Amino acid sequence: MKIDGKATRTIWFADDGKTVEVIDQTKLPFALEILPLGTVEDAARAIETMVVRGAPLIGATAAYGMALAMAEDASDDALGAAYTRLMRTRPTAVNLRWALDEMMAALRNRPREDRVAAAYARAAEICDEDVEINSRIGRNGLEIIRQIAATKQPGEPVNVLTHCNAGWLATVDWGTATAPVYMAHDEGIPMHVWVDETRPRNQGAALTAYELGHHGVPHTVIPDNTGGHLMQHGQVDLVITGTDRTTATGDVCNKIGTYLKALAAADNDVPFYVTLPSPTIDFTLSDGVAEIPIEQRSGDEVSHMTGVTEAGDVVTVDIVAKGSPVANYAFDVTPGRLVTGLITEAGVCPATREGIAALFPDRAKGDDA
Ligand code: MRU
Repeated sequence: MKIDGKATRTIWFADDGKTVEVIDQTKLPFALEILPLGTVEDAARAIETMVVRGAPLIGATAAYGMALAMAEDASDDALGAAYTRLMRTRPTAVNLRWALDEMMAALRNRPREDRVAAAYARAAEICDEDVEINSRIGRNGLEIIRQIAATKQPGEPVNVLTHCNAGWLATVDWGTATAPVYMAHDEGIPMHVWVDETRPRNQGAALTAYELGHHGVPHTVIPDNTGGHLMQHGQVDLVITGTDRTTATGDVCNKIGTYLKALAAADNDVPFYVTLPSPTIDFTLSDGVAEIPIEQRSGDEVSHMTGVTEAGDVVTVDIVAKGSPVANYAFDVTPGRLVTGLITEAGVCPATREGIAALFPDRAKGDDA
């Protein structure tokens, strides 16, 4: 996507032939800063501290982390250590495991002297594949938006509600939930996006709003509690979210609060779509609520907020009564029965085992396991 007219991805290989560069998302929306990652430890820390975040971008960064590890030391021991270090960075998004397994498959049986070049090449491919997948998701979701737009009066916008950031900042490019929105906007369909602020880290207010604004897509940031009210008053045509891990049966794990939006959507007959690249499907799991590990993060993310003052200083303040305990569950699971459809690169399907298996028969059979 473009920032100030310049085509920009979220992660790229630097000119020095070794370093990888990323947009430092902890600085957005107040500053656009690029952070170089020179070692596997840099890559691991970037994922842990959410310099990069979002399931596909976590996977892409981990892939490059393996390449950085090989550039330091291409031994079997270093390969295994890099896999283990990167795997423990964040627990919920399954794209991390997928990307690390892809890298392992590309490197494990290769002679040591070939590993560095092979690792950078496979990491670059994983990034390019992500861009292609998301563009296909965009085209498949665009059809749904076109159908809704056809029911509108001339000039009346299609109102999408989204939660968290499943935009291009969460992927290598395009985003998943935002890809259909950008494509609809670009072909002239009037669009408006309700952006959940997404407490506690405010990925909606800070990131989704930032990217929609830079692309010129009309949008409104709302507190997380507002969606149900808007749905009751006919102001949401469809919900589109991303996901960090979806089971083989269609249960969708996504940023905390997604489940409540799905309940409100079901109660108000608002279609609730989830966009996902196939590496986000965990074919080993059948029951999302019971089986998907839910990350719990520091309570400081709940008790503190960061913002910018009128003078331009970025400050962090405490907002919770002194001494009150806080809890910070980062994700929740929406059962497949509440999902209208899964929008994937291979098409749109019901959020059921049969629906997913029909689109990805080889993976559903476990051929890639
Ligand atoms: O904790 P985060 O910011 O990594 O969580 C991100 C999300 O929940 C996204 O919606 C999800 O990864 C899908 S991104 C295409």
